[in-house]
Amino acid sequence: MEGASLDAVKAWVQQTRHIAVLTGAGISAESGVPTFRDAQTGYWAQFRPEDMATEAGFRAHPQRVWDWYQYRRDLLTGVAPNAGHQALAVFAQQYPDRLTLITQNVDGLHQRAGSVGVLCLHGDIFENRWLDAPRNCCDIDHAVAGHPPYCDRCGNLLRPGVVWFGEALPFATLEAAQHAAHTCDLMLVVGTAGAVYPAAGLAHQARAAGARVVVVNPAPSELDGTAHGVLHGTAAEVLPQLFGAG
Ligand code: OAD
Repeated sequence: MEGASLDAVKAWVQQTRHIAVLTGAGISAESGVPTFRDAQTGYWAQFRPEDMATEAGFRAHPQRVWDWYQYRRDLLTGVAPNAGHQALAVFAQQYPDRLTLITQNVDGLHQRAGSVGVLCLHGDIFENRWLDAPRNCCDIDHAVAGHPPYCDRCGNLLRPGVVWFGEALPFATLEAAQHAAHTCDLMLVVGTAGAVYPAAGLAHQARAAGARVVVVNPAPSELDGTAHGVLHGTAAEVLPQLFGAG
């Protein structure tokens, strides 16, 4: 890793034709959304997210896992996008062809800030889908309310529309993200520990394809060694400075 100053990275942003931004839970921290591994407080502290965010975890304890997602959905309805989400949305509105936004987050805050075409690698926490392949009787609009809701004919359960550990990412979304990684001139990696693949692999792909890679994170991340520069600040502090007009 080479050093990079905020001014140097800002110049790269201004000069670069195509920027890919990969975000993780850290970009929503200043909105009051706990990061994935910090989220377990109160009643939920006794469970490991890595055990619950799996198909096996859901099948073993459907009510517990459903209620955990409901708790997180409720938490999200009370928060708002922050200056980091907003800076990216405003830049993309000004320069629609220059920025591809890829996120591991399921919280919808990029979209609520006004970003369109966000590549959501890990799904959307506010969507539901059937746990088992839907049969003719399975109709999401008529699922019986419950924890989780279910089909009253066959008992199929609804599950959150997120990607769990061990599951494949949505193919077309991953393909679009990989295309952006291969074609961008600059990749910013914002607020992710860089520990979960294939998302973290996008930074390696971008670097291998010749892009500059810059990490924005107040703490060390596993992608620091891949980056040309690391900006040790928070997303809501750094992104408005990088993408602002001034
Ligand atoms: P993590 O919770 O693993 O990491 C959050 C990162 O955000 C850490 O590196 C923090 O240092 C950083 N951070 C904290 N506050 C920040 C701030 N204000 N500004 C910028 N950065 C900040 O979250 P992710 O890396 O996003 O996957 O986790 C990746 C995936 O692992 C998640 O999408 C989820 C999880 O398992 C699935 O559910 C499939």
